[in-house]
Order: sequence, then structure tokens, then C-alpha cells
Amino acid sequence: MTTPEERRKNAQAGSFGTAAEAYERGRPPYPPEAVTWLVPEHAKIVVDLGAGTGKLTRALRAPGREVVAVEPSAGMRERFSQVLPDVPVLEGTGESIPLPDRSADALVCAQAWHWVDPERAVPEVGRVLRPGGWLGLVWNLRDVSVPWVAELDRILRDYAAAPTEDRQVERVGAPFGPVERQDFRWRYPMTADDAMDMVASRSYVITLEPAIREELLGRVRALLDTERPSGMPYVTECYRAELRQP
Ligand SMILES: C[S@@+](CC[C@H](N)C(=O)[O-])C[C@H]1O[C@@H](n2cnc3c(N)ncnc32)[C@H](O)[C@@H]1O
Repeated sequence: MTTPEERRKNAQAGSFGTAAEAYERGRPPYPPEAVTWLVPEHAKIVVDLGAGTGKLTRALRAPGREVVAVEPSAGMRERFSQVLPDVPVLEGTGESIPLPDRSADALVCAQAWHWVDPERAVPEVGRVLRPGGWLGLVWNLRDVSVPWVAELDRILRDYAAAPTEDRQVERVGAPFGPVERQDFRWRYPMTADDAMDMVASRSYVITLEPAIREELLGRVRALLDTERPSGMPYVTECYRAELRQP
């Protein structure tokens, strides 16, 4: 029997496919310096877990490196294959990764670790990585120290119960070593339309009643029309942990 909180989380986790298009247009990329910090230089096989439409995958690609994407949503996988036709994208989750034991040098999970059940995902990632491999977790967060960005967040909170902000980083334990953290600050050039897509692609906005969703989007549009921002300030929050030798 699932609890209401679990049902809400499952509905939101499964909602992404319906908004793959807006997601692709509205979500920001990841800064290269964050990827350099998250993936060891020698990594030849890298898994992008919860790859979505491949926003992080694009930054993970490098000469001499093979990237494999894992994604549960059929809609996201379809959009992924249109954007990155030469990168394999497998159906799977953090709890069940369709890859052999010790087959990857690094696994990165962007904006998705909060959806997994860490009790099952931590040993599963430990199974797929080679000893000495790295687990990387990353989130792009809007920089709310900027006043109009703080106002945007206030509007979102008025309408939508934002998903629990528990990123579950502290639940990464054995067989991994200590978790390290590094933040990267940057600004993503973005038009008002891009910002609207970014809001519309949030799982907790997608799942609102249509009339309430429209009202929320109207208020966001009014704010953006007033502020006319030239870009969105972001903090990219990164974590990494090494798989211990057996
Ligand atoms: C916010 S999107 C992030 C997509 C992509 N990584 C990015 O950075 O743009 C979250 C993704 O996690 C996926 N997801 C949901 N539950 C998951 C799970 N248990 N294991 C792995 N991925 C999951 C969703 O289908 C969705 O594509």
C-alpha cells in the first residue's frame, strides 16, 4: 500500500514524458567545469542516469569516451534519441540499471537523485561501477539571492507544493567513500519564452489542475514582462563519491 506522499512523488516522477518538448527547450545545460569536476579524466565509460532529454549527456561526451544513458520515461527516451541519435539510451532506473557488473568508470545523475530510492540505488550504482569509479550527483538551482528570481520562487510556492527538497545526498554511504561537494555559479542566457518553458516543464507544475496551472503561468509571464531578464542566474551544486576498492 503506497502512502499519499509516495503516490504524489510517483505521479511527478512519471510526468516528465508528457513535457519532454518543453523540458528540452526550457531547462539549462550544465557548465563544463562542473562536468570536469564530476567525471575523472581517465573515465572511458560513463553512465548518465535519469538522462531525460540528454541535457547532461551532451556535456559528458568527450573524445575516447563512451556515454550510455539510462532513463525510465518513454517520452524522454524518444526525445533523447531525436537529439542524440548516436548515444544509446536504455530503459532503466537508479534502482535497476540495465548494465553489467563493474562496467562503468563513472555514473552521473543530474537533477534526478531525489527521485530514486537510495536504499536500492546506492548498491545498484556500486554494482555497475568499477572499484575506484565515481558517482556524481548534480543539480542546477536558480540563484535566489537575485530579487526577481526570489519573486519567481515565491510565485511558484503560492501555487505548487514544490517537491521535497530532500536531495538524499547524505544517504550515499558504503560502498562509497566520503561525499565531496563543489558549487559553480553562472548565468544562462535565456529569453522570457525560455523561462516560461522552464517553469512549464517543472514536474509539480505539469501535474497542477489546468486552470490553476494557467493562472500560475500568467503571473510568471507578468513578472518576466516587467523584469525583462537577459538570463537566469544559476548555482550548479555538485557532489561526488568514489567507489571503494573491495
Ligand atoms: C528533472 S529530470 C532530469 C533529466 C536530465 N538528467 C537533466 O538533467 O536534464 C528527472 C529525470 O529523472 C527521471 N527519473 C524519475 N525517476 C527515476 C528513477 N527512479 N531512476 C532514474 N531516473 C528517474 C525522470 O524520468 C526524468 O527524466
